[in-house]
Amino acid sequence: MPGSDHKPERRAGVDRRAGADRRQKDRRTGRDRRHEPDWQDVALETVAGKDLDEAGLVAAAIDGRTHARARFSNFQVGAALETSGGEVVTGCNVENATYGLTMCAERVALYKALSEGRDVFTRIAVVADTEDPTPPCGSCRQLLWEYCGDIEVILSNLSEVKRRMRLSELLPLPFDARLLK
Ligand code: THU
Repeated sequence: MPGSDHKPERRAGVDRRAGADRRQKDRRTGRDRRHEPDWQDVALETVAGKDLDEAGLVAAAIDGRTHARARFSNFQVGAALETSGGEVVTGCNVENATYGLTMCAERVALYKALSEGRDVFTRIAVVADTEDPTPPCGSCRQLLWEYCGDIEVILSNLSEVKRRMRLSELLPLPFDARLLK
């Protein structure tokens, strides 16, 4: 049966009560370029005071990953995108028999969120079962850049956060709408 490779692993708990202090500290990692003049045309607003800490966002990505449809690569990825309103939209990778139509977990989460009217984002957590961090692919970096701006990217495996970065570190010289004017 198509998709029969899909076996939920475990559902991680999402703790929405964690402390604001730790959350603020976590968010201020990496190089924040949002105040540079070049950023003015990109939607970069972030809203402080979310009710979800980093561990909760990662747990949501782990949860999203349990739905991965990765029968061809057997490489399951989960993503959790945080909106400015503190909501979390999850995604998983979805593969198919042509291979090339594969959609990454990050873009699944982004498209879900955009299609539901969300348009300001603060962080994304990406989870894979790897020792090294699994960063978004080039296509996802482009889409995240254009729709999320310089968000924080949290790269985690199933047991620990491996790296925290700004998207601008992953895509330092982006092509975007500013160049089309
Ligand atoms: N993949 C993602 O979903 N996100 C990433 O950040 C890296 C790669 C997926 C695409 C494909 O289904 C599988 O991982 C192997 O490339």
